[in-house]
Order: sequence, then structure tokens, then C-alpha cells
Amino acid sequence: MAPELQAKIYQGKAKEVWSTTDPDQVVLRFTDAATAFNGVKKASIDEKGALNLAMSVKLFDVVSDAGVPTHVVESLNDTDLLCHRVTILPVEVVVRSVVAGSFAKRYGLEEGMLLDQPLVELFHKSDDLDDPLVNDDAAVALGWAKHWELQCMKELALQTHAALSAFWGAHGITLVDAKYEFGRTAAGALVLADELTPDGCRLWEQGTQRKLDKDVFRRDLADLGDTYRELHERVFGS
Ligand code: TMP
Ligand code: ASP
Repeated sequence: MAPELQAKIYQGKAKEVWSTTDPDQVVLRFTDAATAFNGVKKASIDEKGALNLAMSVKLFDVVSDAGVPTHVVESLNDTDLLCHRVTILPVEVVVRSVVAGSFAKRYGLEEGMLLDQPLVELFHKSDDLDDPLVNDDAAVALGWAKHWELQCMKELALQTHAALSAFWGAHGITLVDAKYEFGRTAAGALVLADELTPDGCRLWEQGTQRKLDKDVFRRDLADLGDTYRELHERVFGS
């Protein structure tokens, strides 16, 4: 029997976290909110929560099958995901296979160049500071993560990214880059946490390079709901 929801303990930009009657489990509720540029741009997109939850469940299955430990227990309904309670580390791991976004801007590059191998960048998870880039030494010196934890997160992020790249590739889509978050369990183990959705990665249709992720919303390229419904259909069939 799944535990019951108790109280909302965290309000994120697109998700809520609820405590449950089991102190070791929480519920992530996927809402229809879409935000970009650290909440500067906002909208409510019909069905987005349910589409992102379905996508997350599928993608967590894929990475779990590839041997990556995750926080997921099971989905409870269209919007609620039961998860092990973890402490999220304040370090986001971005893996890039193709030049895009802030990486293209920082180094003055065109978007679209395939990198020789996937690279990892670390960002400090802080809305107040707009998630600045950090290096390992700063993250360790500031107590955000132990050195071994950063090593472990990088390895797990690359393993996750390889599994998801293969998955999207089989659907005719390139996984350009993605942001992964990790949590510490009560026992101190690291697990892949948060969500795996097109809100947190870039997905380009192979051949056309058409964008099928949240850049559609950030850059006003198309309707986000229609885009996510199309992705969902490609993954699950109609
Ligand atoms: P970036 O190119 O803007 O640094 O983004 C890299 C990846 O991280 C991209 O797939 C989108 C994702 N991302 C988030 O999930 N949340 C964020 O706040 C940002 C800025 C990017
Ligand atoms: N994740 C941030 C937001 O939701 C920034 C972004 O994705 O552009 O506002």
C-alpha cells in the first residue's frame, strides 16, 4: 500500500514536494506550470504535468535498467510520483553532447557542433544566483559535495546520459544536453533524483534539428503543449 500525502513541504517552479505518512518517502507532484529564465517567463500549459510525469517514469526506467540508482518508487496517478526521500545536493550536473545554450554563448560558438565526447559541467543550484557555473574545488571547499560525491555524480550522469541518448536516438531524436540532479539517501548513497523531462534537456529531431524541448517555450518557437504531446506520442505511440 502506498503511503498517504500529508503536507506540501516545497513549492518548486514546476513541481511540488509533499511529505507522506512514510517518513522515508515523498511525493513529487508535476504541475502544468512552465517557467523559463529563472521564473521570469511563466505560463500554464494544459496537460504538461501529466505528460512530464509519464515521460519521467519511462526515462527513469530506462536509466534504472542501465544500472543507475534512482529516487523513484512508483507513480501514484497522472501527476504524482512516489520517491525515496533524499537530500538534493546543491550541484547540478549538465552533460553536453552537442554545443548549445549557455555553452555556445560562453565560448562564442554556433549551436549544433557535435562534441568529440560528452562533457560534464557543474552548476551551483541557487535561484538567487541564477545557477552559476562552479568547478570541483569550489563545490568541495564550500561544502556542497565531497570530492568522491562529485566523482560519483559525474560518472552516474555520463552513464545516465549514454542510456538516454540511445533511447532518444532510437526515436529519431538527438539528446543535445541535459541537466541531472542527485540526492543523498539516509544511508548516504547517491541516487539520480528530480525529474527526467524535456524541461531539463534539449532534444532535437534528427535530420530537421527541430527543437522538441523547453527551448520551444524559452525562445517562442512553437506551442509547448503540442510539442510535448508530439514527444509523448513518439515515445508511447498514439
Ligand atoms: P544551458 O545551456 O542553459 O546551460 O542548459 C544546459 C541544459 O540544462 C539544458 O538541457 C537545459 C537544462 N537546464 C535546466 O534544466 N534548468 C536550468 O535552469 C537551465 C538554465 C538549464
Ligand atoms: N529552470 C529555470 C526556470 O524554470 C530556467 C530555465 O529553464 O530557463 O525558470
